[in-house]
Amino acid sequence: MISSDASLPPEGYRLAVNPDAVRIQAADAAGVFYAFQSIRQLLPPEVEREGIRPNVDWSLPAAEILDYPRFSYRGLMLDVSRHFFDVGFVKRFIDLMSRYKFNRFHWHLTDDHGWRIAIDAYPRLTEVGAWRRETMIGNNLKTYGGDGIPHGGFYTQDDIREVLDYADERFVTVVPEIEMPGHSTAALAAYPEYGCRPGPFEVPTGWGIKSDIYSPSAATFSFLEDVLTEVMQLFPSDYIHIGADEVPKDQWKASSLAQDVMAREGLADEDELQSWFVRRIESFLNANGRRLIGWDEILEGGLAPNATVMSWRDMTGGVEAARQGHDVIMTPRDYVYFDYYQGDPTTEPVAGRFGHPIPLDSVYEFEPIPDELTEREARHIIGAQGNVWTEFISTPEHAEYMTYPRALALSEVVWSPKARRSLNGFHRRLKGNIEHLDALGVNYRALD
Ligand code: ACM
Repeated sequence: MISSDASLPPEGYRLAVNPDAVRIQAADAAGVFYAFQSIRQLLPPEVEREGIRPNVDWSLPAAEILDYPRFSYRGLMLDVSRHFFDVGFVKRFIDLMSRYKFNRFHWHLTDDHGWRIAIDAYPRLTEVGAWRRETMIGNNLKTYGGDGIPHGGFYTQDDIREVLDYADERFVTVVPEIEMPGHSTAALAAYPEYGCRPGPFEVPTGWGIKSDIYSPSAATFSFLEDVLTEVMQLFPSDYIHIGADEVPKDQWKASSLAQDVMAREGLADEDELQSWFVRRIESFLNANGRRLIGWDEILEGGLAPNATVMSWRDMTGGVEAARQGHDVIMTPRDYVYFDYYQGDPTTEPVAGRFGHPIPLDSVYEFEPIPDELTEREARHIIGAQGNVWTEFISTPEHAEYMTYPRALALSEVVWSPKARRSLNGFHRRLKGNIEHLDALGVNYRALD
């Protein structure tokens, strides 16, 4: 029996299982969906398998549960630029995360190494920008060796609509990311006129931060606004992520056009130029009824007035933004970068050498609200997100290996009350969840 109870919190539910009936109450449809996810987890793992399953005891344990999320933004990010993942896998990724009550899928659609979303007004973005000649082997950024195998792929706008419908059925909002002003070499390979140097540019084959960035010219803004217009026509998300991390400013220092913009606008340095760039894009998004998210570098040179900050380098950017009254999503690389090793690097598959290993328990110990924030500032921490960067992840199986079971730890961090979290309790619940992942054929990393 399902009934509505408007007094319950958003996305929350009450579940009562007794000998006569299973009763669900919720204030909204998402709450009913999450009640069903909990019921699924209480049933034997055979519930995940297709077809007729004789000899299964389908009884549910008696239960009386009141459950609702701690945070409204509970996210996972998938980088489909460094390696392309097809629609089938993206849907599977969304389906799995929704089973653990994540509600935001951050789709990292563009970067130096590939542009993955078809834009009608600029066909070369995917004709040229979605393909690279080969891919660097291994994780030694100093000695380059290429695999000689072309890599690429992109989503048509129909593909995107298919993913959005699928996510919507699972109460997952898809937040698209279009990177600017850096991480843009793939776009510049297609349209070199928006860069700071004449080009030509090639979609890079080696990892690392690239120095070619967008010029702050009128033509670049008109290009980016056209792209964002098509993105907004496709994606209903309030939030549009514009990246803005890791922008080397050398080319702006050397560009007379960039220096002229700085003089005209009274900008003291290139950080302020980046801030001006982001503010311009923010005005455009706001005028279209959307809100901007950027990585924490958008603090440098001054935050755009309505921006939400994704704090990735550590938590200090998030603390600073919350103190300035801006909303924050915590995604610190030391806790929730699921591309980092999760065990001994000598026995794990090759991963990034950017940080130390992040084992499962470290994810569970992550606390998104730093102690130094007041209660009022803490209200600006709207949630947290795990990031799956894919420089070293080229297959669906490997992506699942890096994501699970660490995403299960994060799902409790963002859903459960802080006071109710217990590492021992998590490990107890994990056993049952692992059986469900087995039944779903998920290639999770085995527990130590
Ligand atoms: C990032 O990891 N550069 C956001």
